[in-house]
Amino acid sequence: MLNAPIGVFDSGVGGLSVLKEIRALMPAEHLYYVADSGYAPYGDKSSDYIVARAELIVRFFLAQHVKAIVVACNTATSVAVDQLRVWCPVPIIAMEPAIKPAALHTKTGVVGVLATTQTIGSANVNRLIAQHGQDIKVLLRACAGFVEQVEAGALHGDVTRQLVRQHVQPLVDAGVDTLVLGCTHYPFLLDEIRAAATDAVHIIDPSAAIARQLQRKLTEKEALSEANQQGVDCFWTSGETAKVAAIVGQLWQQEVSVKALPVAG
Ligand code: DGL
Repeated sequence: MLNAPIGVFDSGVGGLSVLKEIRALMPAEHLYYVADSGYAPYGDKSSDYIVARAELIVRFFLAQHVKAIVVACNTATSVAVDQLRVWCPVPIIAMEPAIKPAALHTKTGVVGVLATTQTIGSANVNRLIAQHGQDIKVLLRACAGFVEQVEAGALHGDVTRQLVRQHVQPLVDAGVDTLVLGCTHYPFLLDEIRAAATDAVHIIDPSAAIARQLQRKLTEKEALSEANQQGVDCFWTSGETAKVAAIVGQLWQQEVSVKALPVAG
């Protein structure tokens, strides 16, 4: 159990932003990552579609005997996590747009949330706003095109800059002083988001908090690795392996080999 891997997945390469934080915090753990790139983006798909993909990936991880699963995808969390937790025998750690920390931080009382269409329309986000956003204004922004730019490795350049500005500028004009990255792909666009938002806006990326939450859960279950060596990183995808390996290599900042997800359908 202590040496069992941790499964982490996303619709594509966005969840690597979370994987990086997990790797930094828990060097000895074996990390198995699935990029469901053949079925990305999830953000505009139906709930049934996303639930089916998430179930298939969770079953794949269970077949690899993982000790915990991280849903490194706000969209899959919003629509699928409650159902997964009903039957999945290992702990599931999931994303949540950081509306509570944003509400605590804002001075202007105006907070922006950048996320996918599915996440923004989800009951989960409505619940978070009802719980923590009563006294503030929460502006939700579905950022069409962001995921595609990250999946293509286009983190900078004119097209990406223009696209980011198009989504961020209206929020800045509306007076936000705090911006929540509500999609795991978006931290990879941080340079452009920061440039568009200016230094006056505080940007919240919940990835590190998710890694700490995973560590707490494993500690509680007495399931943290006690090994002295660096754990392995293994990657699978339902997309084109060579293409995904190139972009994972770019974002992970080292050459990786990516295997075909055997249950890709
Ligand atoms: N990275 C994902 C998220 O956190 C999903 C993006 C997508 O596939 O639309 O929401």
